[in-house]
Amino acid sequence: MMLTDPQDLFLRDLSNIYAAEQLLATRLPALATELENDTAVQILSDHALETEQHIKNLERVFKVLGMKPEPMTSPVVAAILAERDRFVRDTDPSARIRTMFDLDTIAGIEHFEIASYRSLVHKAVVLCEIDCMELLQENLVHEEATLRRVEELSRAFVRESMDPLVV
Ligand SMILES: [Fe+2]
Ligand SMILES: [Fe+2]
Repeated sequence: MMLTDPQDLFLRDLSNIYAAEQLLATRLPALATELENDTAVQILSDHALETEQHIKNLERVFKVLGMKPEPMTSPVVAAILAERDRFVRDTDPSARIRTMFDLDTIAGIEHFEIASYRSLVHKAVVLCEIDCMELLQENLVHEEATLRRVEELSRAFVRESMDPLVV
């Protein structure tokens, strides 16, 4: 059936990020235990808790709309995580290299989430779903803050590890 209603597109986008958050809720805590850097562990542990909140916020959005999420998987997040697992399997990286790769993996996921929530917030505003907009905005703020923390740490890691002047 042809999708023609912007409200249906909004529901589909919501269902997609809901599936992504659920997948992340199962993977982030385990990923956090594999990082070799205390700050990275802290960032990911904090964000694993926030991810639980993101799921609750999305469930409140569905409730406000009187709708249920469409059952789906998140191919984007699944692919990013699969690439991470393939990298670890194929290269047997040192703990430091794995942590550098994992920080980039998390940054990639956050970029996807930020793009998704920015679009959803905008759609919620246009559709006059202000309660939904505020819940989605809360998630967006967490994703943006996490990306900033991850990128800052990643840059420090790269400088420390790759600067030829550092012995
Ligand atoms: Fe999230
Ligand atoms: Fe996130």
